[in-house]
Amino acid sequence: MSAALLLNSEDWRQRARQRLPRFVFDFIDGGAETQACMARNTADLAALTLLPRYLRDVSRVDAGLTLFGQQWRTPIAAAPTGFNGLLRPGADLDIARAAAACGVPFIQSTASNVSLERIATEAGGLRWLQLYLMGGRPVAEQMLRRASAHGFSALVLTVDVPVGGLRECDLRNGMQMPFRPTFRTALDIAAHPRWAMRFAGHGQPGFANLADPNQLAPSPALQAALGNREMDRSVAWDTIEWLRERWDKPLLLKGVLHPADAARAVAAGVDGLIVSNHGGRQLDAAPSAIAALPAVLRAVDNAVPVLVDGGFRSGTDVAKALALGARAVLIGRPLLWGIAAAGESGAYEVMQMIARGLERTMTLLGARSLDELRSNDLGITYV
Ligand code: FNR
Repeated sequence: MSAALLLNSEDWRQRARQRLPRFVFDFIDGGAETQACMARNTADLAALTLLPRYLRDVSRVDAGLTLFGQQWRTPIAAAPTGFNGLLRPGADLDIARAAAACGVPFIQSTASNVSLERIATEAGGLRWLQLYLMGGRPVAEQMLRRASAHGFSALVLTVDVPVGGLRECDLRNGMQMPFRPTFRTALDIAAHPRWAMRFAGHGQPGFANLADPNQLAPSPALQAALGNREMDRSVAWDTIEWLRERWDKPLLLKGVLHPADAARAVAAGVDGLIVSNHGGRQLDAAPSAIAALPAVLRAVDNAVPVLVDGGFRSGTDVAKALALGARAVLIGRPLLWGIAAAGESGAYEVMQMIARGLERTMTLLGARSLDELRSNDLGITYV
């Protein structure tokens, strides 16, 4: 397959599958338990239709937006994904640079393998920090201080990992952190020398931002806890107040699905919500993100912007969420497939493919701006 034939996300996914050892591909690609939630994300999006309006002079279509006072060239963002360093060393930097080149935010995961200082100085662009609470509040405090000092312009608290979802494929593949090769994974690695060679001289990727608050050095206990997704299970609503006192820029909650939680979050003073089921990697029984979106939007009643992620693979998919009322869409796995296939330029191409697709869909719908796409005047419906 030549590069020119990478026409859609599935093409990039297949290229990534060829390039990565099986245990790495399954780690990024898979979901929890039966993977039904993950499948619902894409199936429910595919089932939606959009009703176009014609004869509206669509010679100018602009998908730009201003959100939280920040200019986005198109309404997508790079979703926070942990352990990107398994794809290739420095993959977080590659995604951040690609996002900066596309004029959209990069949301850096707590479980990222590159320090947030390096993201700030070596990638630039719009950058947000995703926070997992674990190891005590001082650990979070040092990250907030560093993020604030390095121009991170929003904080995303992920709330849907009180415990790690059961990823059966990872267990079967012997995918564990810290990584200890088994006979099978060693064979798998040997069969992918191009992937393996990139790691020569790099060693295992560590979680670069989880530092002991007192010595700003990686703490082995914390590293292991994050690898096993041992988050602080006692996190409750008082955390929002605590964060509000320490973070004066926009604060978003990610992983909200229930409309009552959405309303409570708004009352607690958050600046935005991200409707998400973690790409189907957590609660397998959860509804698809796109199915959960309308009730959350009704509960929030325009008080704060609502973003969404989970299963978005094309500009057409993005247009559907925006037509329902979401302000922007986070893209997860497709960027990882892009990185695995072609590094930074792969992530860039995937984002551009989605951005171009959104503009084409808006043009076909007769929506010249995101406001027009959101407005019901266009007769955009969903079934
Ligand atoms: C994730 N996701 C995630 N979310 C988060 O808040 N912090 C994290 O560290 C991670 N890590 C992570 C790793 C990998 C490999 C994946 C695929 C996903 C979830 C992510 O932010 C997003 O919600 C989903 O990926 C969106 O679904 P799609 O676009 O991947 O279908």
